[in-house]
Amino acid sequence: MFMLAGVMKMAAVGITSPNGELLLNVDVDAKGIPYYSLDYKGHPLVKQSRLGLKADELALTDGFSITGTDTVTVDRSWQPVWGEYSDVRDHFRELAVYLKADNPQRKMTVRFRLFDDGLGFRYELPVQDGPNYLTLMEEMTEFNYAGDHKLFCIPGDYDTDEYLWSETTFSELPEALKSYGRHTEAQRVEGVTIQTPMLLKTGDGVYVNMHEAALDGYPAMLLDVDPASYSMKSHLVPDRLGVSAYLQMPFNTPWRTMIVSDDARDILASQLVLNLNEPCAIEDTSWIKPMKFIGVWWEMFTGNEKTWAYSDEYLAKPGVTDYSQLKPNGRHPANTENVKKYIDFAAKHGIDGVLVEGWNEGWEDWASYRKNRQFLFDKPYPDFDLPSLRDYAKEKGVKLIMHHETAANAADYELQLDRAFQFMKDNNYDAVKTGYVGAIIPRSEHHTSQWMVDHVRHVIERAADYQIMVDSHEAPRPTGLCRTYPNWLAQESARGGEFESFGGNPPSHTCMLPFTRLKGGPMDYTPGLFEPRLSYYGEGKDSQAGTTIARQLALYLTMPSPLQMACDLPENYERFPDAFQFIKDVPVDWADSRYLEAEPNQYITVARLDKNSDDWYVGAITDDNARIAVIDLGFLPKGGTYEATIYEDAPDAHWKENPQAYRIRKVQVKPGQKLQQPLAPGGGAAIRITKKN
Ligand code: NOJ
Ligand code: CA
Repeated sequence: MFMLAGVMKMAAVGITSPNGELLLNVDVDAKGIPYYSLDYKGHPLVKQSRLGLKADELALTDGFSITGTDTVTVDRSWQPVWGEYSDVRDHFRELAVYLKADNPQRKMTVRFRLFDDGLGFRYELPVQDGPNYLTLMEEMTEFNYAGDHKLFCIPGDYDTDEYLWSETTFSELPEALKSYGRHTEAQRVEGVTIQTPMLLKTGDGVYVNMHEAALDGYPAMLLDVDPASYSMKSHLVPDRLGVSAYLQMPFNTPWRTMIVSDDARDILASQLVLNLNEPCAIEDTSWIKPMKFIGVWWEMFTGNEKTWAYSDEYLAKPGVTDYSQLKPNGRHPANTENVKKYIDFAAKHGIDGVLVEGWNEGWEDWASYRKNRQFLFDKPYPDFDLPSLRDYAKEKGVKLIMHHETAANAADYELQLDRAFQFMKDNNYDAVKTGYVGAIIPRSEHHTSQWMVDHVRHVIERAADYQIMVDSHEAPRPTGLCRTYPNWLAQESARGGEFESFGGNPPSHTCMLPFTRLKGGPMDYTPGLFEPRLSYYGEGKDSQAGTTIARQLALYLTMPSPLQMACDLPENYERFPDAFQFIKDVPVDWADSRYLEAEPNQYITVARLDKNSDDWYVGAITDDNARIAVIDLGFLPKGGTYEATIYEDAPDAHWKENPQAYRIRKVQVKPGQKLQQPLAPGGGAAIRITKKN
């Protein structure tokens, strides 16, 4: 560390990362505006970039001088309840920069943590001599890059992140953003704005994942981009009054994060976002159990007109509240007999859970966004016999998984929350999938504004009180809070597998998510699709999934999550029982992970060690180009002999032409051997490696 101390004020403080590759400098200019810059391996990566916050009551923007600094080096490790590694190293050098301004008096600390794989920094607002309640209007944070780099990103939106990825550049971004449609009930941001997590690649081959960590009590951050100067500026999601956040001091903002490496595999392996979150807040975590599940779910997406709703009548008869008076539509799969079939299938194949969507009252009103839509979370439909299903599931050793679709009426969900969670406990449920489809109620809010960030955090905390695990859909994108609340098993918060039925996800989509969305936490992507020919729900329009069967198996490795669905219908698994064996075998919790090959938007090859056995698993995927994955078995312990069961694309497989052509073969392998594994266009390979003798 070096420091130039002036007589009255200090300036130009700097630190390097533990390995010396990253260099951070912090300074204030003549107007007292704080700046930082970041160099990587001796080259400027982020040029002088502004820091600060602007509130109605207090401008924490300029007039500052540096009154002191603190530095410390920390090297420690922690053991996540579940994850990609059983042990995570948290190694950084920290620089706290204390800023002070006069007339009026203002204080602010910027705390930087520089890791070997990147930077995190946050604003810390101590109790002020002046106002201590702030109406935050703007965050000044800039990220000024040194060139017209490649950007992998999705459009800025206050409500949804369910978009496909653009591969573009700063200068071409405005054109790329024009190609996106608008989601109904969501608010796209006018102008050149993108969201995080996003990925950037410089001309020199340096990758930067930009995101935030520990988003709590604050809105999500988007990035306003200037295509001419290659700069980005924080754009906080406002409420509908235009206010970013209401803060009470003392307050710490989320960390702004940049994961940096010239090796794309390091971006995937990085635990920086988790490291910047607080340790686990739940004392007894023994009830938190990673799991696989099937669900009464995909039936509603396959174009056969099945519905979440019990009846077609409710809207035609306003005021009807007694469901037993309604005529069933006969297209409602969440019925006792059908759910029993799913329980039987799960029990037979050792799948832990069965999710049932469409079990409760409220879906008839679903389509009517103008109404004060309300679901009831303790009122099963007449054809869903909960007591008998509860007992049947228990007898078969299967867990029912609860579904709480709120249709984005988050305010009403809070009112029902305790009753809903108690109802779950009374009926032997210990996991819930939540959903927020539509425009948020309260109508003053967006999906990623401060109020919703607080709401979801509240749901997670209350769920922990009831020992309930949560999988949230349409919630603010994750920022590593699952470290603090490991009952938050997964989130959707991106364009998931459901879109295979809404027109399809191109193969490159899942070559992008691990570099971006997954850095905040696991995704409930819903892999395991064995029948890729689908129909667009409700329109009878054909849709084809961007995948082969072998690729779907590989996704269990490339999209790691402690909660993994086998999304397809039991009858489709029965058609391909030998391929389904991999889904039955594959673990959802890992002792170690090795990223073997990676390039964003193109390919990923990863090997993982089961947390509960000595078995290794490998997953490899490619975009719509065929490819030979090179799998270096250097990770296998020396001395043993091993058998690899390879689930691969058949030679004539192709995601569009021939997606169901796969082969399974067993080969003997040795540590250090390099397997040359062919992948079909849009295909993949999944391998289980067990030790012999
Ligand atoms: C959208 C979710 O992503 C999907 O999984 C769910 O089935 C529907 N909403 C209905 O809740
Ligand atoms: Ca969704």
